[in-house]
Amino acid sequence: MARKIIIDTDPGQDDAVAILLALASPELELLGITCVAGNVPLELTAKNARIVCELAGRPETRVFAGCDRPLRRKLVTAEHVHGKTGLDGIALPDPTMPLQDQHAVDFLIETLRAEPSGTVTLCPIAPLTNIATAFERAPDIIPRIQEIVLMGGAYFEVGNITPTAEFNIYVDPEAAKIVFGAGVPLTVMPLDVTHKALTTRARVEAFRYLPGRVGPAVASWTDFFERFDKEKYGSDGAPLHDPCTIAYLLKPELFKGRDINVEIETVSDLTLGMSVADWWRVTDRPANARFIGDVDADGFFALLLDRIARL
Ligand code: BDR
Ligand code: CA
Repeated sequence: MARKIIIDTDPGQDDAVAILLALASPELELLGITCVAGNVPLELTAKNARIVCELAGRPETRVFAGCDRPLRRKLVTAEHVHGKTGLDGIALPDPTMPLQDQHAVDFLIETLRAEPSGTVTLCPIAPLTNIATAFERAPDIIPRIQEIVLMGGAYFEVGNITPTAEFNIYVDPEAAKIVFGAGVPLTVMPLDVTHKALTTRARVEAFRYLPGRVGPAVASWTDFFERFDKEKYGSDGAPLHDPCTIAYLLKPELFKGRDINVEIETVSDLTLGMSVADWWRVTDRPANARFIGDVDADGFFALLLDRIARL
């Protein structure tokens, strides 16, 4: 039986590839996509998610709009990385599929109550505002979650939006603190691993020459997106951050990590949003996360290419 998942997202080119990977994978049943403000404002993330579903030929996918700002802070966006639309790179038509009327947080609560306990996995690849709001409003759903596999945080790579913080955690650190402290089985894809899932020319060209519309779209998104990381880090290409979560669900053997304690800084000005990961286990704080540090990048891109080719 397919594993039931909900993707919580702020597309974003790498979010888009994560959604495509999930839609292309029969091992997963995507119950819905919940959108949140992050890379770009909510109106655009909710639109972009639908553009991606239509590109994949899956207009029946349910897309919900959620929180339009962090719990307690002003929204910080990342147009400098993802472009004005959040999905710059290739011009795609405006979506015609509907946005669901229900608020994303209500959908999360209702679904987790309706599905048998322990059968729904959450895949947040954006600031954690929707998830934390659902937890605060309906704490009874927390023990019903099978697992959370999220993209966020960093330890060895420290930060991408500030010297010490990764974007998804930095945008809504209070929400992240709630999620990391909730006691749900939690797997974290930090920058430490996503910066190893880098596109190269050969990997991008392999997408570009797939038949159909989807492969070339992935290539053009990564072309756009990679200029930022190439300039900033001098890396070969773009890190495909968010698809790491879905790839982990499909092939966990591609990834290596440690069960450790991770706390979120919400007070300090200098290190706001830092994921303080006890990688070396120098405290006696109990482990609350499987913190991933390594990926078989060739295996990851082979999986991605194989699945995207099916769309
Ligand atoms: C994360 O921030 C966003 O810009 C990406 O989509 C990813 O989820 C990486 O820090
Ligand atoms: Ca994202």
